Amino acid sequence: MQVSGQKIVVLGTGGTIAGTSALAGDNIGYTAAQVGVEQLLAAAPGLALAASGALLQAEQVAQIDSKDMDTAVWQALALRCAHHLQNPAVQGVVITHGTDTLEETAWFLHEALDTRSKPVVLTCAMRPATALTPDGPQNLLDAMAVATTPGARGVLLVAAGEIHGARQIQKVHPYRVNAFSSGEAGPLGWVEEGTARLAQNWPLALDAKALSAIKSIANIQIWPRVEIVVSHAGATGALVDALVRDGVQGLVVACTGNGTIHHALEAALLRAQDVGVRVVRATRCPEGQVLPKPGDALPDSRGLSPVKARISLMLDLLQH
Ligand code: SIN
Repeated sequence: MQVSGQKIVVLGTGGTIAGTSALAGDNIGYTAAQVGVEQLLAAAPGLALAASGALLQAEQVAQIDSKDMDTAVWQALALRCAHHLQNPAVQGVVITHGTDTLEETAWFLHEALDTRSKPVVLTCAMRPATALTPDGPQNLLDAMAVATTPGARGVLLVAAGEIHGARQIQKVHPYRVNAFSSGEAGPLGWVEEGTARLAQNWPLALDAKALSAIKSIANIQIWPRVEIVVSHAGATGALVDALVRDGVQGLVVACTGNGTIHHALEAALLRAQDVGVRVVRATRCPEGQVLPKPGDALPDSRGLSPVKARISLMLDLLQH
């Protein structure tokens, strides 16, 4: 049921959804982040209907190719989301974003915002606005339908007709339109002709840590430095030793299989941990998670991918 006077705030950050190409129909030789969020809304006929009567308010938070996403944009985005979510007149927030780091922004916002009663819905496109068949307008309509679905909550991604949660979502394809997957968990649901059909519950509420994160984010000047290293055949500890000398505060290691690490790299990581660097193991495998064993010398990421484990470690360091 639509409460009269409610609104959906649409925050623009750039990406291919806002991309243009000199040649109509060129799906790879385009420039991301060219079209403003107001124009994106205007180019999606039927948006007012998809929003079930909610008013739309657009705001440009950034205009970037999401490969260049950084903590300054995350900070601004989280603060704008928090600002709007605490407004009783706001039913939910929709964010237009590039696909390349969307899963990282989704996880960052999941960790930073109280979305227990309102949704933050990220959406995107794999084809620029100038494509012969751009996917952005439909994704925007679907995101709006989810944002106005009664009971919707959590940080979500809506793209290619699917609804995903922030924890599982991963970009799995560099070109095709359905580029995202929640792996073995599957999507939370689908959007069909403007209606969300759920196969799973909306994402669970957050813990107390997440609820205090936004306060730290509001005040932060210098973010903790956390880097990702990869364990691979022939790995050495040279990179880790150099990062420690350079003042790194946290390291996530993208491990082989069930959290195993090349012995040379592992020795360097243990040295790093001994001098106070926080080290977390995540698996390189696209599905499943590291199963911890008693006596593990390095903690695991509790199912988070390396890029998401980096965000959680950064926020953890921020608060301690
Ligand atoms: C980006 O991530 O900003 C560019 C690529 C995309 O949106 O698909």
